[in-house]
Amino acid sequence: KMNTFIDNLMSKMTVDEKIGQLNLPAVGFDVTGPILSQGVNEKIEKGLVGGVFNTFTPQAVLKLQKLAVTKSRLKIPLLFGYDVVHGHKTIFPIPLGLSASWDMDLIEKSARIAAREASADGLNWTFSPMVDIARDPRWGRIAEGSGEDPYLGSLIGAAMVRGYQTNSLSNKDAIMACVKHFALYGAAEGGRDYNTTDMSLIRMYNEYLPPYKAAIDAGAETVMVSFNDINGTPATANKWLLTDLLRKDWGFKGFVVSDYTGVSELIAHGLGDLQTVSARSLEAGNDMDMVSEGFLTTLKQSLKEKKITEEVIDMACRRILESKYKLGLFENPYKYVNEELAKTEILSAQNRLDAKNIAAASMVLLKNNNQLLPLKRNAKIALIGPLADNKRDMIGNWSAAGDWKKAVSVIEGLKNAAPDMEITYAKGANLVDNPAILKQINANGADITADAKSPKQLIDEAVNAAQKADIAVVVLGESAIMGGEATSRTNLDLLPNQKDLLKALSATGKPIVLVLMNSRPLTLEWEDANVPAILETWFSGTEAGNAIADVLVGNYNPSGKLTATFPRNVGQIPLYYNHKSTGRPYDGISNEKFKSRYIDSSNDPLYPFGFGLSYTFFDFSPIKLDKSALKSGQTIQATVTVKNTGKFDGHEIVQLYLQDIYGSVTRPVKELKGFQKIFLKKGESKKITFTIDTEMLKFYNSDLKFAAESGDFNVFIGSNSRDVSTAKFSFKL
Ligand code: IFM
Repeated sequence: KMNTFIDNLMSKMTVDEKIGQLNLPAVGFDVTGPILSQGVNEKIEKGLVGGVFNTFTPQAVLKLQKLAVTKSRLKIPLLFGYDVVHGHKTIFPIPLGLSASWDMDLIEKSARIAAREASADGLNWTFSPMVDIARDPRWGRIAEGSGEDPYLGSLIGAAMVRGYQTNSLSNKDAIMACVKHFALYGAAEGGRDYNTTDMSLIRMYNEYLPPYKAAIDAGAETVMVSFNDINGTPATANKWLLTDLLRKDWGFKGFVVSDYTGVSELIAHGLGDLQTVSARSLEAGNDMDMVSEGFLTTLKQSLKEKKITEEVIDMACRRILESKYKLGLFENPYKYVNEELAKTEILSAQNRLDAKNIAAASMVLLKNNNQLLPLKRNAKIALIGPLADNKRDMIGNWSAAGDWKKAVSVIEGLKNAAPDMEITYAKGANLVDNPAILKQINANGADITADAKSPKQLIDEAVNAAQKADIAVVVLGESAIMGGEATSRTNLDLLPNQKDLLKALSATGKPIVLVLMNSRPLTLEWEDANVPAILETWFSGTEAGNAIADVLVGNYNPSGKLTATFPRNVGQIPLYYNHKSTGRPYDGISNEKFKSRYIDSSNDPLYPFGFGLSYTFFDFSPIKLDKSALKSGQTIQATVTVKNTGKFDGHEIVQLYLQDIYGSVTRPVKELKGFQKIFLKKGESKKITFTIDTEMLKFYNSDLKFAAESGDFNVFIGSNSRDVSTAKFSFKL
């Protein structure tokens, strides 16, 4: 039925109208790239626009959709896209934070709520999930993904696609997902945004490509191309990537869209003029041109000059029309326009409650000496820091249509969670003092002005407040706008003015709880050595303050685990748990010279992948395997008993890693292959069993064949990638 409908429609379309479907201009309120589209309304009327993005609300969508379906010759409805990345109006933690929950149900739920709100606000397409593996926290966009692990990243990408799209795009509140940024954007050299990626195929296949593939297998309808160069050909013009791999090998059936001006940026990459690069990008497999208008203004000429064929244009046009058909837009172009629904669905009490619970589940307790947390409700608290009485930053970067004024600050949250707690507030420091950073982020809308008080006055006030209190809760970190796109950093310490404050507070001798907000792993060696309790809260969304307060006062026992390694210093980057052994591995103890090590720093991270504490304690028994030899088609059961030995009920995320000890190619020292999020009451113990099968032993070898090899394997089970117990089995094909 769909094919007949589209055949019929396309038989009536002129070449200009077909090319028009490949055009995606930006309109409206949000600016997410360097230039703005012009004359969009007129182009819609002429049938020269396939979809628009950066505008929403039923009223705005109605206006533009009406132009398309009443004024254009063939009345083809528009797509409405937007970066609904971690919530639409009810904002959830930034994706790196969400991933730290390791909870697929919660993550899917956050995407479902986002889709319900976005669809009620006129949108039918989100530019999410972002599944770029990132091992470099200098890269600000590490905030938008799920960290460094391909297995976990794959599960999360698929869960988000399910949440957005449901089981059918024809459902009333389903929106199209867009897997981005295809591909390898997270491996940009030096952590500098938009930079080059050069990578072996074996690394790509084993470590970087799996999350894109998983999200596509979960049915993602669209894919966004990345900005970066890949081994000499920018992704936007990369036929191997967009056609051979994506369509031929992986069977992707939806449509591909470039990133913002990705097509015209091929000129700066050095591939040719606008006409040349537009033809090349289309030929490579990019169906839709976001903002460049290279397709719109040059493809017809290329067709005339026989540089491209009409079939390639037809193919791209057909794919876009198919998506519109699947969404049900031809049946009802106003499917997503419903003012009444927008009023009840958006920021509903239930959505906010879910956001609070999801935010709490994303927080990671990095340190808790002497069980300083949870706070005692009768303690006198000095609440200090530029992020303590702050709403603006709570919703983080890429917070879509989120309204920071609707967010809950930490001070408000604490008053809600513990109304009788005695709290004195002092700002203590400006959020950002560094002139270079300030200049950059204020130019991009941060609106940070220095406090009328001098830095010394601010610190003195904070020290005074701490001295009068039992405990100082100090809320520090980045400004939200220091994360996300175009926010690469070369220094990942707390900003110097905030560190000065922390040092002054530490000198008072009062116990300190450091509450962190940041978009990326920071380097926290001094903090780890000098501050007794540290809670990582990311930017946790509309309900940030309530969720943080729930964790601080013990209404919620933290269970989040890091999905990106926290290095000790920037010099260690890239640092990730699933690295190779090298021929001269360093044991971390001895003082041998000719080992793979630094002379001025440990090799070890400060906080490893998978790490996160709880208010309670979990004891892991040694691993029991039900057999020590595995044959193809068989399985091994690996069992541990986990006991809650502390004083609180709580969740633990039990993690399974494997190592292929000898292979035809070098293999990582360990790889995550499974995990279970369990809940144990205090005193309770549970047997946790993982089933290891042959599929879990497979990897891409030097022929890029996905296969398992006979040999010995290590099994590791534990509470993070470092603290594990070990067992061994052998495998025979
Ligand atoms: O979706 C984004 C992408 O992640 C970065 N460039 C702009 C796009 C649209 O806003």
